[in-house]
Amino acid sequence: MEKARGRRWLVRTLITLGVVAGVFVAAVGGVFAWLWTGADVSTVGKVRFANRMAVPPLAGSTVDKDGTRVFDLRMQTGETEFKDGRPTPTWGFNGGYLGPTLRASRGEQVKVRVRNTLDEASSVHWHGMHLPASMDGGPHQMVPAGGDWAPRWTIGQQAATLWYHPHPHGRTERHVQRGLAGMFLIDDERSKRLALPSRYGVDDLPVVVQDVTFDGAKLDHGRFFLANTGFLGEQTLVNGTLDPYLEVGDELVRLRLLNASTARVYTFGFDDDRSFGLVGTDGGLLEKPATMNRVQLSPGERAEIVVRVRPGERTVLRSHPWRHGNGWEKRFNGGDDSFDVLELRAAKTLRTSPALPAALGAPELPRAEDSVRGRHFELLQSGINRRPMDMGRIDETVVRGTTETWTLRNGGDVTHNFHVHDVQFRVLAVNGKEPEPALRGRKDTVAVPMGTTVTIVLRFDGPADPDTPYMYHCHLLRHEDEGMMGQFVVVDEGQRAGRPPAHAGH
Ligand code: C2O
Ligand code: CU
Ligand code: CU
Repeated sequence: MEKARGRRWLVRTLITLGVVAGVFVAAVGGVFAWLWTGADVSTVGKVRFANRMAVPPLAGSTVDKDGTRVFDLRMQTGETEFKDGRPTPTWGFNGGYLGPTLRASRGEQVKVRVRNTLDEASSVHWHGMHLPASMDGGPHQMVPAGGDWAPRWTIGQQAATLWYHPHPHGRTERHVQRGLAGMFLIDDERSKRLALPSRYGVDDLPVVVQDVTFDGAKLDHGRFFLANTGFLGEQTLVNGTLDPYLEVGDELVRLRLLNASTARVYTFGFDDDRSFGLVGTDGGLLEKPATMNRVQLSPGERAEIVVRVRPGERTVLRSHPWRHGNGWEKRFNGGDDSFDVLELRAAKTLRTSPALPAALGAPELPRAEDSVRGRHFELLQSGINRRPMDMGRIDETVVRGTTETWTLRNGGDVTHNFHVHDVQFRVLAVNGKEPEPALRGRKDTVAVPMGTTVTIVLRFDGPADPDTPYMYHCHLLRHEDEGMMGQFVVVDEGQRAGRPPAHAGH
């Protein structure tokens, strides 16, 4: 009797547990299905293109007695009307949002007088620029609240589309999201003579792409908990303009695309899949234009493209879903997302543009044959080579005037990229294979998707400074802020690395 009752109790308990477990699994599955179906974002077909695209003004400059070109940049708070009549609090350089385009020529000596009127310390880093470490604007060159900083250097590199942005240790994502970023264009003798579209703001346009989410009039920087790359916004801005259109009066337009988003990867193309000519990468012009209909840019990367329009037509620059990546990654880290980024409106009659030149130049690229040393970098969210960033630790010491081969390995389950200060490198191989055309030019940032090994060749020509490090890091700014960054110094042959001040700016 006792036994039978015990068995019945057991059966009842098991059934109850089974039902509870079933309901639990169904609930979790339901929540997951709901998260899954709601996780992708698309603005394709939904954008009204109601606003004329802003073009950042060219920064004015003065020339000193010694010939130095001097720019002024003021970091400030402001308000921006992304939507009519609804001011959003933002930060900018010399204005409410983003900053002017700096422009200088190879061989020129430049100086930038930076003034920080924010109520917190920040810095200004010249992304892609070859310059002395003490002028680099990384976390060791903080500009205190209310303070000044005036770096100077000589432009010693080829024509390129570079950019500038803050780099305060642990706070870069926030400072860039609030609007601190701008372009820095470099010209050289050859680029000035090329028959490429080159009238700034007319047929040669900066296209600074960022993703944002609005909470009323405010920018919302909350992060979806399943997105392990960082903040992913629901809409895109070009040069700070929401829903932008651009009137085009020439047959060929050159777009200098910059992915200034903090975590989002874009796969740019057009709505009708038309092809365009890729003429430049991060650090300058390609040897010759490459024809394609997609170019993928991870945060920090640039591409210069030239696209042909027909009289009277409208075409949309679009970001398409990724070609690579697994299901989870695509769904929760933006790979399935798509955006209508910018509408081009061609005039009824267009000025004729000269045909794209067949040869653009000779990109200065380091050669693998010259490499004297290899280094390996394991890209882990917890820290490159398992070491989270430490301001007081020099991770790598390189000898001035030498060429090295670096292997970048992403064996984890999150997208990363890799950016190196001071140099423009060559991408030698991606998973052992010759890189696609978009990776054959001068690069300072390269995507390293999951399960990928990228080999790059770098040459360190800068002046030696054993005490002041340059950075290398993942340019997904959340990862960088959380410690996915390391420091290297350039020393003279036989010299040892010094000691950086451990708490600069803190
Ligand atoms: Cu664009 Cu270390 O930065
Ligand atoms: Cu940089
Ligand atoms: Cu990363």
